[in-house]
Amino acid sequence: MRSPAAILVEEHVELSGIVKDLEACLDPTDREALRQVLPRLTQRLEAHRRKEEIFFHALAGRVQAPTEVLDILRREHGSEGRIVNEMRALLSAVENDATTVTALGAHLRRTIEWLRDHFWKEETFIFQDADSYFSEQERRALTEQFETLSRS
Ligand SMILES: [Fe+2]
Ligand SMILES: [Fe+2]
Repeated sequence: MRSPAAILVEEHVELSGIVKDLEACLDPTDREALRQVLPRLTQRLEAHRRKEEIFFHALAGRVQAPTEVLDILRREHGSEGRIVNEMRALLSAVENDATTVTALGAHLRRTIEWLRDHFWKEETFIFQDADSYFSEQERRALTEQFETLSRS
């Protein structure tokens, strides 16, 4: 059974692939491709964040846990929720042709940068050592919770 941290890192690989696809839609802006990529990214990001919230909650109770980093990342998850809503709003702006291409591109480039930085922080400060904070039984329980979420 894969560990919960390994699952979250694998999801970063998948999400980074989608982020790359998004980046490819921007120069020049390809509205048709954005209509495909943006919903995929928002859906996968939200599913990923639900797992991380369970994981961070479990981790926060550990004495060895890097509490300050966890606090920062949990706050960033609040921002990520807003970013996802903004991307949804942008998508309807793309549909309605109500936004300028330049504004859209600039906004999405900032979003891409923000996401890459967030993934990097999680991988560097949390996921690398995360398995050592949980017993095998706890890891298994977390992985099962992730699987239940993926099915729902
Ligand atoms: Fe996250
Ligand atoms: Fe993540």
